[in-house]
Amino acid sequence: MSELIAYNKNNPFLATITENRSLSKAGSIKDTRHLVVNISGSGLQYQPGYSLGVFPQNPAALVDALTVRLKLDADAQVAQKDGSAKPLRRVLLEDVTLNRVSKKFVKAVAEKLPAGNELLTVSGSEEALDEYVYTRDFIDVLGEFPDVNFTAEELLASVSRSNPRLYSIASSQRKHPGEVHLTLAVVRYETHGRAKKGLCSGYLADDAPLNVSALPVFLAPNKHFKLPADGQTPIIMVGPGTGIAPFRAFLEEREVSGSGGRNWLFFGDQHRATDFIYEDEFAAWQNSGLLTRLSTAFSRDQAHKIYVQDRLREHGAELWQWLKDGAYFYVCGDAKRMAKDVHQALIDIAQQHGGLSPSAADEYINQTLMKTERRYVRDVY
Ligand SMILES: Cc1cc2nc3c(=O)[nH]c(=O)nc-3n(C[C@H](O)[C@H](O)[C@H](O)COP(=O)(O)OP(=O)(O)OC[C@H]3O[C@@H](n4cnc5c(N)ncnc54)[C@H](O)[C@@H]3O)c2cc1C
Ligand SMILES: NC(=O)c1ccc[n+]([C@@H]2O[C@H](COP(=O)([O-])OP(=O)(O)OC[C@H]3O[C@@H](n4cnc5c(N)ncnc54)[C@H](OP(=O)(O)O)[C@@H]3O)[C@@H](O)[C@H]2O)c1
Repeated sequence: MSELIAYNKNNPFLATITENRSLSKAGSIKDTRHLVVNISGSGLQYQPGYSLGVFPQNPAALVDALTVRLKLDADAQVAQKDGSAKPLRRVLLEDVTLNRVSKKFVKAVAEKLPAGNELLTVSGSEEALDEYVYTRDFIDVLGEFPDVNFTAEELLASVSRSNPRLYSIASSQRKHPGEVHLTLAVVRYETHGRAKKGLCSGYLADDAPLNVSALPVFLAPNKHFKLPADGQTPIIMVGPGTGIAPFRAFLEEREVSGSGGRNWLFFGDQHRATDFIYEDEFAAWQNSGLLTRLSTAFSRDQAHKIYVQDRLREHGAELWQWLKDGAYFYVCGDAKRMAKDVHQALIDIAQQHGGLSPSAADEYINQTLMKTERRYVRDVY
């Protein structure tokens, strides 16, 4: 009898990317992708609201540039913790972060330079060092100091290990057995005259092979970010940008399970013409009646910014009624700005449409909805 292998972060499943298509239309300054990752045979079971953990790789060209610049033997065997060995090239591809120089490496370069060098001053100040490493990778730094060299051991002692990244799952497993869908915003920028990309989003978008079982993945469950147990319960979903991902999963799940609860989605991005991702799917769900309400906020289609929280406020009276009817309120996407602004909009709505005093509104949103009833749930990053 074959034993079921439990795949997890320490023992990831080698999944297969079967689709990688652009969701951003021509003319968008963004690069947002829809990825289909095949996990058949893994036994992995997910619920809407889970994320997928992905182990990235550095671009081969970056690894080659580094080994050539430092005149390192890419085939040299590097001893591993478990007693095995692997070639330096694979270590540099799989195990370390190369798209951002590490502080340890900058300090090591400074120590190799003559006393009193400028880099010593930079590496002596946490603020200056933060700023220095923010825009540079290893090739940038080695380009600035062409006489500096590192042995493989010195290099490996000063690089940071790479960590897996999480992506909200954008599909219902009941609708797509054996598959995980992702909505990926690719991080791209240019600094010091060279194009740079996010370690994992860049790998998934440009370098990860299609139709090869080679992507190490694991599931990251989320105990709280899940559909209400009762399919009749109304839900309000706020997901601008890639924050939309888990709500596509929620809607698919409600579609497949025939749940009759009302569904209200707030989506926003830069331009309707180029960044209205999954527009056709939402339109079909509006036509079928699954998506009761869709409120969009295209921030750059007019002179002043319009964001999802502006739409929440515009529909404040109705939104308050949904909350009174027992609706769950979900937020996914940017933690730094969007989630805070949406939170404030909710408090304002509780005052304006619920007639609550400022302190009662605060208590209702922060305590009652969030903690006691757990109807206000966030997955923000
Ligand atoms: C629970 C959870 C769910 C998530 N779901 C999704 C999802 O559904 N879709 C999605 O796309 N992402 C999602 N993310 C984010 C994702 O995990 C990664 O953080 C994201 O893809 C960036 O990772 P990266 O490896 O590509 O970039 P990294 O290599 O980590 O680089 C990103 C960094 O690049 C830096 N950077 C950006 N622009 C510049 C610039 N001009 N100059 C210098 N530096 C710059 C920024 O500091 C940024 O932090 C989620 C995160 C979490 C925690
Ligand atoms: N914490 C993080 O590090 C983090 C979180 C999310 C996304 N990102 C990165 O940002 C890039 C794109 O991400 P994304 O596709 O998810 O979209 P996004 O950048 O989050 O943008 C989606 C929409 O949200 C708008 N927005 C900006 N500030 C807002 C605010 N305070 N309140 C409400 N809406 C606001 C944007 O408008 P404008 O752009 O016109 O202002 C845009 O219309 C990716 O590279 C991604 O990795 C980083």
